[in-house]
Amino acid sequence: MDSGGDSDKKFQTEEIETRQPYAPQGFGQKTKRHCSRFWWLHLVIFCVLFLIIALCLVYVGMPKIAQHDVDESYMEITALKFLNPTSDSIVLTQEVILHSPSIYTPTLDSFTAASWLVTNGTFGPTPMLMIPMPQIHALHPVSNHSVENLNITIANLQQVTDYATALITQENVTTALTGKTKLHEGKLPVVNINYNSSSTYKGLNGLQGFNVTDVRVNLTAKAGEPNLSGFAFIPNPSVVTVALGNVTLTLSTTKGVVGNSTINDMTLVPGNNSLPMTSIVDIDALSDSLVNGFVTLSISGQSAIYNGEHLTYYESALKSNVLSLDMNVAQIIKDSS
Ligand SMILES: *[C@@H]1O[C@H](CO)[C@@H](O)[C@H](O)[C@H]1NC(C)=O
Ligand SMILES: *[C@@H]1O[C@H](CO)[C@@H](O)[C@H](O)[C@H]1NC(C)=O
Ligand SMILES: *[C@@H]1O[C@H](CO)[C@@H](O)[C@H](O)[C@H]1NC(C)=O
Ligand SMILES: *[C@@H]1O[C@H](CO)[C@@H](O)[C@H](O)[C@H]1NC(C)=O
Ligand SMILES: *[C@@H]1O[C@H](CO)[C@@H](O)[C@H](O)[C@H]1NC(C)=O
Ligand SMILES: *[C@@H]1O[C@H](CO)[C@@H](O)[C@H](O)[C@H]1NC(C)=O
Ligand SMILES: *[C@@H]1O[C@H](CO)[C@@H](O)[C@H](O)[C@H]1NC(C)=O
Ligand SMILES: *[C@@H]1O[C@H](CO)[C@@H](O)[C@H](O)[C@H]1NC(C)=O
Ligand SMILES: *[C@@H]1O[C@H](CO)[C@@H](O)[C@H](O)[C@H]1NC(C)=O
Ligand SMILES: *[C@@H]1O[C@H](CO)[C@@H](O)[C@H](O)[C@H]1NC(C)=O
Ligand SMILES: *[C@@H]1O[C@H](CO)[C@@H](O)[C@H](O)[C@H]1NC(C)=O
Repeated sequence: MDSGGDSDKKFQTEEIETRQPYAPQGFGQKTKRHCSRFWWLHLVIFCVLFLIIALCLVYVGMPKIAQHDVDESYMEITALKFLNPTSDSIVLTQEVILHSPSIYTPTLDSFTAASWLVTNGTFGPTPMLMIPMPQIHALHPVSNHSVENLNITIANLQQVTDYATALITQENVTTALTGKTKLHEGKLPVVNINYNSSSTYKGLNGLQGFNVTDVRVNLTAKAGEPNLSGFAFIPNPSVVTVALGNVTLTLSTTKGVVGNSTINDMTLVPGNNSLPMTSIVDIDALSDSLVNGFVTLSISGQSAIYNGEHLTYYESALKSNVLSLDMNVAQIIKDSS
């Protein structure tokens, strides 16, 4: 019986509906009516979605883009100067061209960068120096930046020694700067950035091309006084200027040590260097090693002293870089007498 009552109700409802003054609608018209009635709701949903997407782009996408762009940038080192060294500090000047493929021109806050030696793609165990980096405004595609005359304390002597050795002995050297900083781009929110950028540049390539020119023997020199002088010719294919101080080199032949040479205020600049050199050489011992008037000298670093302080990092580097020089001793003695 109940079911009978239900069908009555249904019938009534249908009747009421058919009595409505307009014809049944299609889906399109329904939507239209819904839209015109709830336009404000659609606007609100659109705005909320837009806001969510915009915020995602700004707070999730933009930091990713910014970090990516920073990762894509790299420094081309155009000048590097190591001056006024002490046993535990160095005065650094560095000029770079920053290559930034990004179309944005962000500003990075100043930060303290750790400087690492990278050997065959592997970072050293600890940073060698901590370098205070100035604020950097990166332009597209390149911009010049520099730090000048920063007196920096050596953070790790072993790493600096390894770096000095790589710099003097290798054709190419790689170092990296790492640190955390903040990036600003217009009115966009500030982004935290992990800076980690490697640069490869030319080293001094083992001082290849080393020679001694204008050699003179002083036959009247007293014992202990320099009795041989000349100019050390040292090509420097790198962009590095390095002040090594007063450098003493040990000279040996196959028969052993025959003397030493001193280059005072030995500062190597990019390009060819010709530095006055004085030597105390046992000419008799040298003569004993002559082959057809020539002697092959083996030259290795002994000490590097700057304002009375031993620069052990340069001393190790110079010791590990043994130079070989064929000297026409017969001709030199003839020229000098
Ligand atoms: C780096 O590689 C060169 C050549 O591949 C090799 O002679 C040198 O020993 C390597 N250095 C280190 C520290 O692995
Ligand atoms: C950047 O430095 C290079 C030399 O390293 C120079 O030739 C160039 O003019 C500089 N550019 C600007 C914009 O200062
Ligand atoms: C650099 O600082 C050290 C102390 O950290 C100091 O001994 C040295 O003289 C300074 N060098 C220069 C060139 O001022
Ligand atoms: C050093 O770099 C130059 C230029 O990138 C390259 O031609 C040369 O082979 C490199 N030398 C070594 C020993 O890796
Ligand atoms: C920098 O990136 C290199 C890989 O490119 C990674 O080996 C090194 O650990 C990173 N260093 C820091 C301090 O993030
Ligand atoms: C060194 O210089 C002398 C002239 O002073 C020259 O005769 C000799 O060929 C040079 N040696 C090398 C290896 O360049
Ligand atoms: C040779 O040595 C003597 C004594 O040390 C010195 O007086 C003289 O000036 C030297 N000659 C040259 C050409 O260096
Ligand atoms: C040069 O000086 C050394 C050391 O003082 C001495 O042994 C040597 O005989 C001197 N040689 C000449 C040619 O004066
Ligand atoms: C250079 O050799 C001479 C003679 O052998 C020696 O007296 C002098 O102390 C040596 N100089 C240095 C800086 O080692
Ligand atoms: C440096 O010296 C070498 C060998 O003498 C020469 O070929 C080269 O042109 C010189 N370079 C400069 C910049 O003077
Ligand atoms: C090198 O030695 C000379 C003479 O002993 C001294 O006058 C000069 O100051 C020394 N140079 C350096 C950089 O220590």
